[in-house]
Amino acid sequence: MKNKIIISNPNDMHVHFRDNEMLKLVVPETDKIYENCIVMPNTVPPITNREMAKDYKLRINKYIKNNLNPLMTLYLNENTDENDMIRAFKDKIIFAVKLYPQGATTNSDKGVKNLKNIFPLLRKMEINKIPLLIHGEDTDEKIDIFDREKSFIDKYLTKIVNKFPKLKVTLEHITTSEAVQYVKETTNLGASITPHHLASNRNDMLVSGIRPHLYCLPILKRRKHQEELIKVATSGNEKFFLGTDSAPHEIKHKENICGCAGVFNTINSIEIITQIFDEANSLSQLENFVSKNSASFYKIPFSKKKLELIRIDKPISFQDELIEGDLKIKIYKPNFEVNWKVSRRF
Ligand code: NCD
Ligand code: ZN
Repeated sequence: MKNKIIISNPNDMHVHFRDNEMLKLVVPETDKIYENCIVMPNTVPPITNREMAKDYKLRINKYIKNNLNPLMTLYLNENTDENDMIRAFKDKIIFAVKLYPQGATTNSDKGVKNLKNIFPLLRKMEINKIPLLIHGEDTDEKIDIFDREKSFIDKYLTKIVNKFPKLKVTLEHITTSEAVQYVKETTNLGASITPHHLASNRNDMLVSGIRPHLYCLPILKRRKHQEELIKVATSGNEKFFLGTDSAPHEIKHKENICGCAGVFNTINSIEIITQIFDEANSLSQLENFVSKNSASFYKIPFSKKKLELIRIDKPISFQDELIEGDLKIKIYKPNFEVNWKVSRRF
């Protein structure tokens, strides 16, 4: 039995930092553990151009003490200026572009309504090698919330990958066995997986009372889907990598008559994943999932810095909330014990 594991510093390929006061609270948590992170642009207002991305990065950088490298994204919409986008990418201000179907999730009301209208932009992205990150849910109100990911793949993603075969696409925060299968068989398509979709399923959210802090989008699915996600994450398949989708909302907006979607899971994310990999007898694949696969997929350097985790007898105790002044955020906690802890970064 392994009691210690050393991996190269992990990457979080999908994180929400929000803006203003929230940055002070959440950026340092990612900075403590992660090397690179892809920062989502669904702030209010969204990050829609080069100038906004540049300013947003400066605001984030104020809270970085270690060597976190925030990789910025642009919020794609039907009015995105293609020259501004290409310039932002060539100047290395942005790393990728994010597609939110309109109304799919938190702050996505300015997202894309008609996919066809962005085809010329996707063509430019393909030519200029700009990665496309997709929130893959069909927002048609007739589609059941548990079927939205599959419907998006069938109706839209297939069109995108067929029309733009050289475009590098990430299907973000996948939640279903159908998504796993589709990503496996499709060239130039990768996928991120969150700690909470590996650790929880919809029973955790809905049995014996409703738990608003587990409500996120895409919504937690059945156990059999959770099992498929664990299987592929621990398999070493290079197309699948960690994106926490850590999405802080103030507690008062989660514990609400109409609560917001999003789980704040940065704290203990690596420990939770290590526990899951340990239980799947796959500790040898941990580094691939959290550090190496994303670096290979996006062609960014592997970190030379290391993170050491050790097995501990007494399970870690989860802090309940992160608080700063009036801001209060609930910290994600799975329904199992975690016997791993980060012991060193060197
Ligand atoms: C995210 C948020 O709050 O910004 N919420 C979520 O449930 N994951 C948006 C997103 O990534 O869907
Ligand atoms: Zn997200």
